[in-house]
Amino acid sequence: MLDRRMFLQGSAALGGAFALGAGLAARAGAAPDPQILTARFTEAQIAAGGITPRVMTYDPRVTAHDPRGIAHDPRVILHDPRVILHDPGNPASAAMPPVLRMRKGEPFAARLVNRLDEPTTVHWHGLRIANAMDGVPEMTQPYVYPGDGFDYLFTPPDAGTFWYHPHCNTLMQMGSGLTGVIVVENPEDPTFDSEIVLNLRDWRLGAGGAFIAPFKPRDAARGGTYGTVRTANWQREPVYDAPAGGLVRVRIAATDVTRIYTIGLEGAEARVIALDGNPVEIPFALDRLDLGPGQRIDLALRMPQSEGQQARLGNFRGSNPWTIAAFRAVGTSLKRDLRDIAPLPANPIAEADISTARRIPIELTATAEHEPAASICGSLGYTFWAINKVPWPGDTPDPVAPIDELKFGKSYVLEIANRTPHAHPIHLHGLSFRVLASNKRSLLPPPTDTILLLPDEQAQLALVADNPGDWVFHCHIIEHQKTGMSAYFRVA
Ligand code: C2O
Ligand code: CU
Repeated sequence: MLDRRMFLQGSAALGGAFALGAGLAARAGAAPDPQILTARFTEAQIAAGGITPRVMTYDPRVTAHDPRGIAHDPRVILHDPRVILHDPGNPASAAMPPVLRMRKGEPFAARLVNRLDEPTTVHWHGLRIANAMDGVPEMTQPYVYPGDGFDYLFTPPDAGTFWYHPHCNTLMQMGSGLTGVIVVENPEDPTFDSEIVLNLRDWRLGAGGAFIAPFKPRDAARGGTYGTVRTANWQREPVYDAPAGGLVRVRIAATDVTRIYTIGLEGAEARVIALDGNPVEIPFALDRLDLGPGQRIDLALRMPQSEGQQARLGNFRGSNPWTIAAFRAVGTSLKRDLRDIAPLPANPIAEADISTARRIPIELTATAEHEPAASICGSLGYTFWAINKVPWPGDTPDPVAPIDELKFGKSYVLEIANRTPHAHPIHLHGLSFRVLASNKRSLLPPPTDTILLLPDEQAQLALVADNPGDWVFHCHIIEHQKTGMSAYFRVA
């Protein structure tokens, strides 16, 4: 009955922690039931060589003894036989953070419960929601300590493929498993015969399956440290069944902390229908497409014609292409045609007024100066990168001034220059931008929240500052973010 006592202590401590979120939900009126996301440890078979302990996941289950899904002291759970830590009969994908389904324009609630042994938060990558829900500790919300929770409540304005992850000790927490995909549905989307969601990421595991050091400093100062095991939905080369000759919507999210993919398909035809959540104006045939950390691709895939035939999604970056996942045709052909799919409806992203837009120069550079500050959300202990010559010192209270202050409702053009020989997937929270021009690309993507800036690329990014708050702007190669390549804009 020790557990019972500890449980009560845990609950008492939580009374306060949840009060804030509950009040918020009440004010908003009809808040939906929250999606439980219990950040916790688990174990999973990811590498061929053995089970990985201390994997982190978001557990969506409401446990029997805890109908509200509220956290207890993380020590309690280890003694609770009713909670299954590892089910050898299940593939690792069963332990993966759930694909969260939301609806465009409808409120969504999530209750983060922290059963890890360190603070955490959730950031909803690409969702243009209120700043207070953005999940950046020190900047938009308090840390969520072990045993505590936080209630998120927001209404996604855009449909598409997005994702979620912590914004605290992110190299460690994301590297350990905390990256999940979000699907924001739009009832007006065309219907497919099937949908497959792929969460692409790597793991830094040793031969026996245990985690190894999350990064190497000399790699952090270059392109970033790669994982040793490559997965889609926490599996090595999974195979998915879909109707022969059918049309499948494949939603691909690159949630790895480092890897830039070059996506391609063999054995079937596919069209790119959306990038980073936003529909492309004219769908185009998938040939080879770069996908940086944080970015997403939506494909309309036409399955092979006969039962048993496979199409393979691969990574064609570098000299040794490899298979990410395969799609196997089942049943008799539905005989569908890619032209059967109507275009996706556009999201309501404001177009910048270029004639009045103020231009803001932004330079990405390497730097060696400056000591990183120790931070509750994890410092890597090095500084290698800077934005406009200022390296982010760490996630400390009010660390540096905003990179710029934007007036609410006004238009801006970020004139961004990558002065490094490495690609950087640059992500802006809370606002979407349009790539107006670039010295490195002819095909301009639809509005986005993450641009994969190529070495020496100079681009003009137009946006309307229509969401007030402090919005982080950083490289999504997490080692770069955490060694200086981070900043924020203030919109007021
Ligand atoms: Cu994917 Cu700062 O975020
Ligand atoms: Cu970078």
